[in-house]
Amino acid sequence: MSKKPIDLNDAKQSFVELMRSLNATDQQKFLVFIMKEWKLKPSMAYNDSGDDACNNKKLMDESMCILNSIASDIKQKIPFNAILSSENFITPLTGENSDCDPSVTLHMDEFLYNDEDIDNLIDSNQLERYYCTDCRSRNVQPLIYLSHSMSQDGLYFIFKVLLPTLENKTILDIGSRLGAVLYGAYVYTDARRIIGVEMNGEFCNLQNEIVCKFKMDNRISILHKRIEEVPEIIEQSDVIIINNAFEFYLSRDVQIDIWKCLRTAIRPGTLLVTRPSVETTFKILLIGISIEKWLKPFKKPDFNKFPFLLDYEDKFSEIWCYEVL
Ligand SMILES: C[S@@+](CC[C@H](N)C(=O)[O-])C[C@H]1O[C@@H](n2cnc3c(N)ncnc32)[C@H](O)[C@@H]1O
Repeated sequence: MSKKPIDLNDAKQSFVELMRSLNATDQQKFLVFIMKEWKLKPSMAYNDSGDDACNNKKLMDESMCILNSIASDIKQKIPFNAILSSENFITPLTGENSDCDPSVTLHMDEFLYNDEDIDNLIDSNQLERYYCTDCRSRNVQPLIYLSHSMSQDGLYFIFKVLLPTLENKTILDIGSRLGAVLYGAYVYTDARRIIGVEMNGEFCNLQNEIVCKFKMDNRISILHKRIEEVPEIIEQSDVIIINNAFEFYLSRDVQIDIWKCLRTAIRPGTLLVTRPSVETTFKILLIGISIEKWLKPFKKPDFNKFPFLLDYEDKFSEIWCYEVL
């Protein structure tokens, strides 16, 4: 007996219910299964201009499934706020982040939890949005949310929108932490070598575990070093990513020395991706290096070619790319 076809809305409803009945890890495995079963290719996810179709296909993207599986795995291994006891944060004295007083700042890792996850956590009272400035009154202020990793959307933006194809190139992530940038580079590019340099040994162990488990060790390697100790790695890199690597971890003097070291070691022609802009960082640190003689802004991406990213345009405006002169 042949089954009566159900309409698309009922199918969507059943699918959502099925997804909700699974835990986060199994949801990702199930999506990968669908990808394989229906032979969907990641490229299909971005060619459709319809909003709904785009979002659904985006969800199906195999690379995103891998990143989600990695994020689920990491969540099991580290504290909820993704901060380790071996870390020592320094609140910046100047600049936009100087208001990050520890008593009103929440560390939430963007690679592990996207905006929707955070809203859900707030709705289910697992996170607060405000703090009370004057107990029992209605005098409340929003808490400051601080992420120490690149979001999954940010990784897609950097490797599929901002940068050119990176076949056979070497990518370096300075301060690789959870390894988000490394995994993003692995799934979204054909780079030959992807190197993470991280000064915290516990994070290096975590990255190595993930790289082994997801069989990414053919292209990714992790160095437990301070970046200033390995200028030869800087020199060998074609693309260098610095996602606010130093501001919360090092004194101003040390940060200035590192930027001078980078100025000397980075080869002309290298692409440098930073968040925030080098201009912002140098203004906060009062560094006397002439940016115009060192860096040329790389072409700005055309967001109209990526309609599903238009909502993120503001967020991605903090990510800058330069070509080294
Ligand atoms: C904001 S996190 C960046 C995380 C990662 N790059 C990303 O985008 O997901 C900065 C990391 O840089 C590391 N770090 C800070 N100074 C460093 C240095 N001089 N050498 C190596 N790692 C450093 C910190 O331990 C921290 O884990």
